[in-house]
Amino acid sequence: MTVYFMDGQFMDQSGVAVSVDDRGYYFGDGVYEVIKVYGGELYTAEEHISRLFQSATKIKMTIPYTEAQLLEVSRQLIEKNAIGEGHIYMQVTRGVAPRVHHFPEPTVSSVVTAYAVNSPRPVAKIENGVPVKSVEDVRWLRCDIKSLNLLGNVLAKQEAHEAGCVEALLHRSGVVTEGSSSNMFGVKDGMLYTHPATNLILNGITRQVLLGLCKELGIPVEEKAFTLDEAFEMDEFFLTSTTSEVMPVTSIDGRLIGDGQPGEWTVKLQQAFTLQTPSLVKGQ
Ligand code: PDD
Repeated sequence: MTVYFMDGQFMDQSGVAVSVDDRGYYFGDGVYEVIKVYGGELYTAEEHISRLFQSATKIKMTIPYTEAQLLEVSRQLIEKNAIGEGHIYMQVTRGVAPRVHHFPEPTVSSVVTAYAVNSPRPVAKIENGVPVKSVEDVRWLRCDIKSLNLLGNVLAKQEAHEAGCVEALLHRSGVVTEGSSSNMFGVKDGMLYTHPATNLILNGITRQVLLGLCKELGIPVEEKAFTLDEAFEMDEFFLTSTTSEVMPVTSIDGRLIGDGQPGEWTVKLQQAFTLQTPSLVKGQ
């Protein structure tokens, strides 16, 4: 049975009572993080928890814990749920109050919930690559905030899913932004391109790890937006996220990227990603 964390206590699901008046439920008024666990160890957890606090600040919400306390909560969730390979989900909502749009007056405490689950790495998709479908990015203009308000992402993912694709390649009037739950990268003529970390994308932690690896490997990068038409013509394409790691994209809208196999730089970056994740190296 999964052990959850809610408001300072660990409990099983039957003990978790979420209020109908929770603003997360009414408005999606909150923020969240997904943190990967490899071999029972947190991966880039400081970065994720730091981004959780940044997201909260951007929506003018206070989290009633310190970063160190939420790190400790994450560690305890791993232990209590006996997680080997899996992830932590953590969310904070603005709290419980009668439904009015403006912030509650008087202020109420935000509500922190979290759990940890075992979930296998998507090894076949990482090795073979996945198809994606282009979908118009109709989300709001603060995609840098990891907000609970995910309708635009949900509808895009569903459209891709119904087309037999693993991810939606989002574009604003033909300019590629990111995936519905991932960041997108393309390689063309010896240059790696990805959308700059503006308000139009979430600056993924995996994206940042990847850009660091590029520096180490001497792979030239331009953080520059590219169009959907340019995406079709890329030599290689891949996506990154906490749960997808570095995943090759082998086709967009049914059109093959390169020869339809994971690209050379993509594989090189996957190997480098594995090497800086100690328990993945051990597991090989
Ligand atoms: N999604 N862009 C969006 C819109 C995302 O939702 C995510 C992550 C990313 C990649 O960020 P990171 O590398 O920090 O995981 C980019 C998580 C995994 C999710 O919602 O499940």
